[in-house]
Amino acid sequence: MKNKTRLDGKSRSLLVVSQRTAFAEIISEVFPADDTMTITNSSESFTAMNGRAVNLVFDHDVVILEADPDDEHEVGAIKDLLSQRRGDTIFLALTNSDISIAKARKLREIGVDEVLPLSIDGEGLKAVVEEQIKGRQVPAQMTHDGPAALGKVIPVTQARGGVGATTVAVNLACALAANRSSLFRKSARNRVVLLDFDLQFGNANVYLDFEDNGGFLQIIEALDEPDDHFLVSTLQKNALGVDVLCSPRPIVPLQSLRADLIESIITLLKKRYDYIVVDLPRAVVDWVEPILKQATQLVLVTDTSVPCVRHARRLIDLYREENVGLPVEIVINRDRKPMIKSDHVREAEKVLETKFRHWIPDNPKLARTAVNLGRPVADLKPRSDMGKALAKVATTVATEEQVIRKAKR
Ligand SMILES: Nc1ncnc2c1ncn2[C@@H]1O[C@H](COP(=O)(O)OP(=O)(O)OP(=O)(O)O)[C@@H](O)[C@H]1O
Ligand SMILES: [Mg+2]
Repeated sequence: MKNKTRLDGKSRSLLVVSQRTAFAEIISEVFPADDTMTITNSSESFTAMNGRAVNLVFDHDVVILEADPDDEHEVGAIKDLLSQRRGDTIFLALTNSDISIAKARKLREIGVDEVLPLSIDGEGLKAVVEEQIKGRQVPAQMTHDGPAALGKVIPVTQARGGVGATTVAVNLACALAANRSSLFRKSARNRVVLLDFDLQFGNANVYLDFEDNGGFLQIIEALDEPDDHFLVSTLQKNALGVDVLCSPRPIVPLQSLRADLIESIITLLKKRYDYIVVDLPRAVVDWVEPILKQATQLVLVTDTSVPCVRHARRLIDLYREENVGLPVEIVINRDRKPMIKSDHVREAEKVLETKFRHWIPDNPKLARTAVNLGRPVADLKPRSDMGKALAKVATTVATEEQVIRKAKR
């Protein structure tokens, strides 16, 4: 592990709790402190730490404790501590090798992640720690106490460059984050993440006044697939409550991403977020496949010109090869809903086999001001023609998702 590029480029911290100095020394030999690992020792038992343990313990990534399952006070203190668990600290208990199965199970029941014999060798212990870190799931408050995430994947694509896909994606994400009226989760706010997968020309961060923190590049350059902890550390929170994965600042080859990497990113995020809005690249690349496979709906931004409509048709056909029956929401940008549909609009609806219900008016002045301020129109001017139309897209997406969900029940 020492010579390997760390997944997250960050240091991990290990807390060793044992009253025996020799125990702490052995663990330090297994996990030598270096720039990828810091080690803290505590010779106090959890009983002695009493109320202070919570602050000491949950700041660490991994806690290795020497446990005596026959010491009821100590087991009780560990139980109290783990009942206040927050974050995703991993707890490993090392005990005498002759511990009964019932006692080992008791430790597991109170929340210890793994119970290991003191006779385990260094390599074995390292492997268990790595395995636990890899399998580390969503923090407890997300999975256990909070409502389960809806995990809806909404890719946004464009029938031509510059037609307004990023504008729609950014506004959709922000409007969904402001929306509390989900039939399924009345009280809570939607948890929304926006992934700027327009790898080479992505600019969603500009629309939201962010500088890329280099997170996406770290994901690309890491040797392994990201774990939940690392992935979340690459996201940047915006003031409207949307977490954003910015596209990398330097231009990287489209082949820098792999389908399996994207698949694991989406799978991890589905556990955390209600809506995963994806600004797709214009190029058709193989790593778009896992996004489409897991998509709930596709939002396709276009205008009503013949070339655009033809291209929109080709895209729908292509994307439905990955996800048969994928619902598509067409958004006509920079055009007002006509009072009377012209022949070419009727023809376009026929080609795309739908009635166009989303028309975002052309409002260059407002669009420009929004970009200059780094604020989405739906937030800056929600009552404007453009703001209302963009908010309606979010309402439809949320409602449609509920209809699909109901139909499947
Ligand atoms: N309804 C609108 N009225 C006026 N201007 C708009 C509207 N929608 C988007 N724009 C402007 O059009 C430009 C292109 O929009 P945007 O970046 O959203 O398109 P895109 O399809 O993502 O483009 P790209 O191909 O670069 O990814 C931006 O300057 C944006 O502010
Ligand atoms: Mg764009």
